[in-house]
Order: sequence, then structure tokens, then C-alpha cells
Amino acid sequence: MNVLLIGSGGREHALAWKIAQSPEIGELLAVPGNPGIAEHARIVQLDVADAAALATFCADNAIGLVVIGPEQPLVDGLADVLAEAGIPVFGPSRAAARLEGSKGFTKDLCTLHDIPTARYRRFSDAAQARDYVNAGGVPIVVKADGLAAGKGVTVAETREEAIAAVNACFEGDFGGPGAEVVVEEFLEGEEASLFCICDGERALFFGTAQDHKRAFDRDRGPNTGGMGAYSPALPMTDAVTRRVMREIVEPTLAGMKSAGAPFRGVLYVGLMLTETGPKLIEYNVRFGDPECQVLMMRLKSDVLPILLAAANGDVSGLRPEWSDERALTVVMAADGYPGTYARGTAIRSLPGSGPQMRIFHAGTSRTDAGLVATGGRVLNVTATGTTVKEAARRAYEAVEAVDWTEGFWRTDIGHRAIMTEA
Ligand code: AMP
Ligand code: GLY
Repeated sequence: MNVLLIGSGGREHALAWKIAQSPEIGELLAVPGNPGIAEHARIVQLDVADAAALATFCADNAIGLVVIGPEQPLVDGLADVLAEAGIPVFGPSRAAARLEGSKGFTKDLCTLHDIPTARYRRFSDAAQARDYVNAGGVPIVVKADGLAAGKGVTVAETREEAIAAVNACFEGDFGGPGAEVVVEEFLEGEEASLFCICDGERALFFGTAQDHKRAFDRDRGPNTGGMGAYSPALPMTDAVTRRVMREIVEPTLAGMKSAGAPFRGVLYVGLMLTETGPKLIEYNVRFGDPECQVLMMRLKSDVLPILLAAANGDVSGLRPEWSDERALTVVMAADGYPGTYARGTAIRSLPGSGPQMRIFHAGTSRTDAGLVATGGRVLNVTATGTTVKEAARRAYEAVEAVDWTEGFWRTDIGHRAIMTEA
């Protein structure tokens, strides 16, 4: 089978690496890809935003499955255009992608179906939102309604900070007609994520992970897309997992189906493990980046039939097998990320990958002068081990062997799990 993969990050490199190992694969193609993906796939020069051109390309090249990595094309309705053209697609419709594309939509779904989440109010008027913030306590959480590339959430310690966040949601990039804000209760606890492969009705548990969102060690500095992750997440015991499936995932799938927007694809369940049980922080409608990298390192089964089953609407016969090992990934980012950073700095050499260590490309380009860094998050140095500690040691050894001087990374990925293991 020929497969077209959409995306250009470390998440898509990990997917490409895994899909390319499938005995079922004919040709793997990628749009727009990156130099790491190019080791496993033929890169096609097409515009991801041009859904009609992609559909024509798929028909002309006998593509049997399109795998959509990032959220933007899903929220824009790429899966709908491909499905209308009769092309199987891994990833939800535009209507189902509202689980990530609109925080207000998801919060209302939680209310309707009694899904545990932070108490909240939605506002389309800045003054009313400010009054609400002024009447309540802190900390409080302010969220722009739509996709905001990780910049839409403010955990405000003071009312002033909360008011500034409300104002920002109605101005600039987030503002304009239809702007909306969700103001919600601050939840205390440990964060973890759970993944499910969904076929519109059923959810197949697909592992857990913990990300590290802040830029610097000890969870300091600005929020990022994720500076490193490990899997499985230590606090996600079987009992917690079962509870999340029963109280959060299953009612969500049933609710989406009854709303006429059945969810197909991977559901990323962002959780806060509170004293009173797991609560939903947010949904994403695609694999996490860098969480996908650690999941793919642990997955023993062929990934292609799993993605295809979700696309074709029946995951019931699947039993994915996982390695008993832990996996951990360290994100090497360009100096300045998540703010402004230099592009085009030289990556002079990378250590070779092996069965227990693999470097995924996240933001690189190949030029006449060699490999260069072009993104904020540049490389994902990923390793496995019997313990999180061993996986971390292996990953950090490889990080030290990367010859690129304009980057930084966190030195404490997996620290909480490592402390618990000891
Ligand atoms: P998001 O951009 O939606 O992933 O949110 C960014 C981060 O904000 C999350 O990973 C949490 O750490 C934090 N966050 C979001 N909502 C809440 C909440 N209700 N209570 C506490 N922290 C939150
Ligand atoms: N690593 C967080 C995300 O993919 O949204």
C-alpha cells in the first residue's frame, strides 16, 4: 500500500520511521517532510493547505492511506476533502477536530456528558470576562478559544495577569470577530497524557506519556510545545487508565457520535491527576510532539494496520504490543526558542542511531553546505532502557555527541519518574 504522510516535525519523522518498517508498505511519500523523513519517504512538493491538489495527487498515485500529523490541516478540514474523494485518511473530520480547535466546544461537551474537567465560563465579550475575573480568586486559567500554537493558555497567579490575558484574547492574533475566551478553575496535581486510537465508536488504548512543557530545568521559563517526554507515564497506573477510559474517553466518543461528528484518529487526552481523580485539561486530535516519538520507540506491532483500521472505522480486532522498556526523548531547541531564534545554523554531525537510540529530525533542512537547524525545536534525541534512568542516560550521552553549538536542552527530562524509581 502507498501511504502519504503530512507534516514536517519530529512526530512525523517518528511515524515515517515506523510506517516504513511495515511489511504492508508499498511507497511512503511525505508532504512537506524534512531531511530525517526523507531517509524513509519520497518527499513531494505540494502545499499542505491546498486540499484539492492533495486529493488529486492521492488519486493519481494510488495512495491507500493519508496520515495527517499536525492539527492545523485537520481543523481546516483536510480529512473531509480527502474522504469525499474516497481516500482513506487517518485523522478526524473538521467537525470532530473541534475537540482541539475550540476549547469552548470541548468544555460544553464535558458539561453535557458529565466528563470531569475544571469548572469554567465562556465569554465572547471582554468586559464580561474581566468582571468575572475580578469577582473570583486566583490562580485562575485563561484560554483563547481557538488554535494558538501553545500560546493561548495563561495560568494567572494574579488578577492583573488574568485581565491582561483576557485582553490579549480579544486583541491582536487571537482577536477579531468571533473571538472567545474560556476562564477556568486552576487544577492542582500531576499532569499526564493518554492516547487512544479511535474509529468513531471505539477507543483503543494506545499508551501514556509525560511531557515537559516549560523551556528550562525545574519547570522554569516560558511554555513551549514540549521539551522532552517519557513513556509510559509513571502515575498512569492500570486503575487510573481504566478510570480515564470510562469517565472521560468513552463518554466523549459517545457524545461526538451523537453530535454527528464521530471521532476517528488519535485522541490525545491531556489530564490533571487531582486529589479527587483524573480531570481533562484538554484534548488534542493528533499525536503529541514529542510524545509520539517515545510511543513509536515502544510500539512493537506494525503501526500501519492500526492507522488503517481507524481510517476504515473498525479498531475492534487490534491488540497493539508494546516493549517492556521505557522510552525517553530530549528535545534540542535553537537558542531563544520559544521566542525568536536563529535559522540556518550548522549541525555538523549527529551520532549514529541504533536499536536503543534514535535521533528524530524536528526542525532541520538540508542545504548545499550540509544539515542546518531551521525550526525552534530541532532534534529529538530518543532512547530506550529498562528504567527511565537508563533511557535518560543513553539519550543524554547521544545529546553530548551532537555537534551543534547554537542549541539548548533541558537536563532533567524524566526527573520525577527517575526519583520515584530510585
Ligand atoms: P495547553 O496549551 O492547553 O496544553 O495548556 C498549557 C498548560 O497549561 C497545560 O499543560 C497545563 O500545565 C496548564 N493548564 C491548562 N489548564 C489548566 C488548569 N485548568 N489548571 C491548571 N493548569 C492548567
Ligand atoms: N507536546 C504537546 C503537544 O503535542 O501538544
